[in-house]
Amino acid sequence: MFNKDAFSNGQIDSKLWLCKELEKIGWASKLTHIYGGWYGVLAFLLLSRDFPVEKIRSFDIDPTCEPIADMINNNWVIKDWQFKAVTMDCNSDTPGIPDLVINTSSEHFGSNQWFDTIAPGTRVVLQGNNMVHDDHFGNANSLTEFEEKYKLEEVLYKGKMDFNYPEWSFTRYMIIGIK
Ligand SMILES: C[S@@+](CC[C@H](N)C(=O)[O-])C[C@H]1O[C@@H](n2cnc3c(N)ncnc32)[C@H](O)[C@@H]1O
Repeated sequence: MFNKDAFSNGQIDSKLWLCKELEKIGWASKLTHIYGGWYGVLAFLLLSRDFPVEKIRSFDIDPTCEPIADMINNNWVIKDWQFKAVTMDCNSDTPGIPDLVINTSSEHFGSNQWFDTIAPGTRVVLQGNNMVHDDHFGNANSLTEFEEKYKLEEVLYKGKMDFNYPEWSFTRYMIIGIK
């Protein structure tokens, strides 16, 4: 069933934060892979804003995500496949040689296998959080813990964003750098 949480404040503001920090760094990408890309909302935002990216491939293990992500990003699917969603487990090698790998779903992955599979020297943008949830296996409880979990050769940005609601709160962490 469609999960409207993909458009919640916690999801959208986290992705806008990612877009803004990535744009500040000044990278360009020929091929960006998004792991755990869900409905392709991050791709939609990246392609609608100022990040220069030639192609995005959004991988998700859940087959129901692919048609929804392709529908949301149809504007770029029809432009020589600038966007395409792919049903795939990111713990195995994703096709192509990306110069940027983004994973904002790290807490949903049961192990670091997906991270270990990324070639050294690849640019990465990673998000995680401290939210307790049935589907979360890999939570981090601080930015330091998050950084320790995903060791990078060079960190160009690190930060956290607090989300406070009347009944609950959580913090999202982000690191951008070179693996
Ligand atoms: C609920 S969503 C994303 C939440 C996240 N905070 C975000 O930024 O979008 C997490 C996604 O990760 C996907 N996922 C979990 N394990 C995966 C794997 N091994 N390979 C690819 N996708 C995976 C799930 O199917 C799900 O669509």
